Amino acid sequence: MRSKIIAANWKMNKDEYESKKLTFEILKHLNKNNNTSINKILCVPFPFLSTIINMCSGIEGLFVGAQNCSSNIDGPYTGEVSCLMLKSLSVRYTIVGHSERRDLFGESESLILEKIKRLVAENMIPIYCCGESLEERNKGFHIKKVLNQIEDSIFKLSTKEVKNVIIAYEPIWAIGTGKTADLEDIQEIHLAIRKGIRSKFGRSISKNISILYGGSINALNAKQIFDLSDVDGGLVGGASLNSQDFIDIVNSFN
Ligand code: PGA
Repeated sequence: MRSKIIAANWKMNKDEYESKKLTFEILKHLNKNNNTSINKILCVPFPFLSTIINMCSGIEGLFVGAQNCSSNIDGPYTGEVSCLMLKSLSVRYTIVGHSERRDLFGESESLILEKIKRLVAENMIPIYCCGESLEERNKGFHIKKVLNQIEDSIFKLSTKEVKNVIIAYEPIWAIGTGKTADLEDIQEIHLAIRKGIRSKFGRSISKNISILYGGSINALNAKQIFDLSDVDGGLVGGASLNSQDFIDIVNSFN
């Protein structure tokens, strides 16, 4: 059985006080109703990891993750944060290859692959993001684009390594825009990803890998998206910055 996952991507939002407040409100909601069959992962900015990990410790089904990591182990890389640093804080999940990192920071598929390899070597779990631009979608290249991304990174992992990976399909044009992909299109591409994984790694891995959708998920559209047979949850940006919206999204998943 693949895991059901709702990951919050706070991006570069909120200061320390606001982060604690948002976490406190989420904990209050979960205290009343915590569906522990859904893994909730709060991917928060680096400076607040320790604080939020402490606040969330001992809550079943709730995890704290990072939004990025270095592809290097240690050394003269000013401003970078290594997997080992994250691991020493008991962080297990890390987003890698988000389209903002690809587009704004020039991250290539080969760099993303190095990060994934570092993470899985430490028994950590990358949340690997892929997705097409609007232009690629309009030209009908979306499936090819996403499968190419996956071939250049995920397919280069061993069977043992890929078992620890979560995939998040995020059409770039849907991120932060209020536009979501059509339900049929989401299902089509998730199925194409799963079939690709099956042809490379076999049926058992493809059945067990979690594939999340991301891009303008909100409390109103979440249920329909999560009901799709090849969608195993979501990566939520804007709506995860409000505790009620985030919890409504979690609760719409069953
Ligand atoms: P969004 O962001 O929900 O604000 O569209 C999703 C993401 O970037 O992961």
